Amino acid sequence: MKRVASLLVLLVMLAGGGLIAYAASRSNANLLLFNTSFWAIPVALFLGVLVGATIRREKTKISNGKVLRHSWGSPFYHWSFALSGIALIVTGIYVGFLFIPRIVQDAQSVNLMYNIHFIGALFFIFGMSAHITDGYVSGKIKEHMPELKDFSDAVSHYTSKVGIGTQPMEGKYLASERLSYLLWLVFIGLVVLTGFFKAAAHIWNIPGEIMGAATFIHDVSALAMTALLIFHVLLGALVPWSWQLLRSMFTGYVSEGYVEKHHPLWHEELKGQK
Ligand code: HEM
Ligand code: HEM
Repeated sequence: MKRVASLLVLLVMLAGGGLIAYAASRSNANLLLFNTSFWAIPVALFLGVLVGATIRREKTKISNGKVLRHSWGSPFYHWSFALSGIALIVTGIYVGFLFIPRIVQDAQSVNLMYNIHFIGALFFIFGMSAHITDGYVSGKIKEHMPELKDFSDAVSHYTSKVGIGTQPMEGKYLASERLSYLLWLVFIGLVVLTGFFKAAAHIWNIPGEIMGAATFIHDVSALAMTALLIFHVLLGALVPWSWQLLRSMFTGYVSEGYVEKHHPLWHEELKGQK
């Protein structure tokens, strides 16, 4: 119930943000939110840290053949940065970057795209800072961190899917998930840091060379994130053996049978037979 309510609240907030972006760009002054509301960026960061540090976490357990994989905060943060991340990529494509040509031309439509980008940045920063703070405070961020053997395990995992070799013994997160988590952290860190500079340039004077570098890094990281997102959705959600993970990003739970088959080390850990 808590999960459904929190995801509904998130959807309502996102729709409200969309309306604010639309109203600002249709107003007579054709407002650019990056010019008028910079203060909201540190506020989103602060709120994310506050929520991530104070949220009540549910304990992972096996009950009635089900295993709690994601405490209720986790899907809330994930869908906050996932939906806003998609909006950030789409608006970035509309205004054009690197070799991608601009799709929107008139000032009002360009402003609308940047206003959606602004609202997206707020939800993205909120979700990410909450996720990272929660992971840090609970110590769970360590579960996502890669180890050296993850390179070979990730290769064996996917070759075993096409009948070559055997599947490695996996823990709570697959080796490939831990490797991609580090990439997420790097690209998201770069896109948010440079985004902060780009947003700050709307209210302060920042030298052209710094802005040139910030824009280049922002755009290259945006491209890298787009590629990562495609792999993430295909391998982490759409392939049949990941359907339970996608469901758990809404319900929090996967079946015990699924854990036993796909994450045997985690299963042993949960049963206390490590
Ligand atoms: C998933 C994350 C993000 C992606 C994929 C992304 C992508 C892009 C792209 C492609 C552009 C257009 C090209 C350019 O001007 O560089 C852009 C512009 C911009 N982005 Fe982002 N961005 C992201 C996150 C952020 C964040 C978190 C912020 C703020 C903290 C931000 C602030 C800006 C600003 C201020 C502009 C330029 C607006 C202007 O020139 O008036 N972006 N972004
Ligand atoms: C820019 C957008 C996105 C980013 C940055 C992102 C990032 C992440 C991260 C860091 C995790 C690990 C978090 C955790 O386990 O609590 C995760 C998990 C997950 N993501 Fe995303 N994601 C994005 C979009 C999506 C989309 C669009 C989908 C599906 C349609 C998706 C499906 C999943 C699933 C199913 C998991 C759970 C994996 C598991 O339990 O092992 N993500 N994502």
